[in-house]
Amino acid sequence: MAIHLLRLSDFTRDELFAYIDRAIVLKQESAASIRHTQLAGKTIALIFEKASTRTRVSFEAATYGLGGQVIFLSAKETQLARSEPLKDTALVMSRYVDGLVVRTFGQEVVSELARYATIPVINALTDLFHPCQVLSDVMTVIEKKGQLKNLKVVWVGDGNNMANSWVQAAARLDFELVLACPQGYEPRADILQEAQQEAGARITVVHDPVEAVQGADVINTDVWASMGQESEQQKRLHVFRGFQVDAELLRNAKPDCIVLHCLPAHREEEISEDVLEGPQCVAIDQAENKLHIHKAILEKHIA
Ligand code: CP
Ligand code: NVA
Repeated sequence: MAIHLLRLSDFTRDELFAYIDRAIVLKQESAASIRHTQLAGKTIALIFEKASTRTRVSFEAATYGLGGQVIFLSAKETQLARSEPLKDTALVMSRYVDGLVVRTFGQEVVSELARYATIPVINALTDLFHPCQVLSDVMTVIEKKGQLKNLKVVWVGDGNNMANSWVQAAARLDFELVLACPQGYEPRADILQEAQQEAGARITVVHDPVEAVQGADVINTDVWASMGQESEQQKRLHVFRGFQVDAELLRNAKPDCIVLHCLPAHREEEISEDVLEGPQCVAIDQAENKLHIHKAILEKHIA
């Protein structure tokens, strides 16, 4: 039976760490020029309804790196754009390829594809979650800090798809998560509550970024207006004033605090240029780790 990756809460602590442990090995093997063939004879289709640089290229490169083949489909050039049902798309694609990697708006789109597909469906970002990204981000934190257990990770900004996936990661992976969001822009209440109820979970939401980052080991941010929210850009610039990750905010964290950003970044909005390009920011390493995590995901779900 196909195992889908739609959200992190579908996986146990051990399963989540297994992706990361495997990605670390695959990264080392890649550096040692070890060739892989786990996906030889397999074809992966990417169906993207939103823009992407990192996720598309890293999934494509990961597939080729494991010896597989990729077909990229811009959703607007498929019959989905002419309202062909997701059910028919899932059934038909399942006859052609071995896995579907999907970037879209509604989480219900990936759920519906997964309901009918007989091949694995991987969520490459929806409005609700960005699970593969957060796996690469947690991997990056482990690389930089050695472990997660005693770390304080702070999310500063919008309670968006990235924040929701960080909440689900924190529910299972031992670190403390504090989210500083403007009133009304917190992570989704049901996702937050479900995560907070997990044994050992330490997840809180506050509205003051300065309070939140006291003693932080990791500060994490993302754009204030996500894809699909372009019409709210001006309003959000106003709402999120005071939530920029800049040098002054960073001074409240631990001196060795690292700064995460999944990219693309809007310089001088959610993050100042000096912090984004400064020594504490690990955004480019995060971006690299998407390649290794995607290999681990493809290997587990599709090989
Ligand atoms: N971080 C991320 O998902 O980047 P892309 O939108 O470029 O894929
Ligand atoms: N929250 C952002 C993440 C982009 C990788 C968005 O959804 O646009």
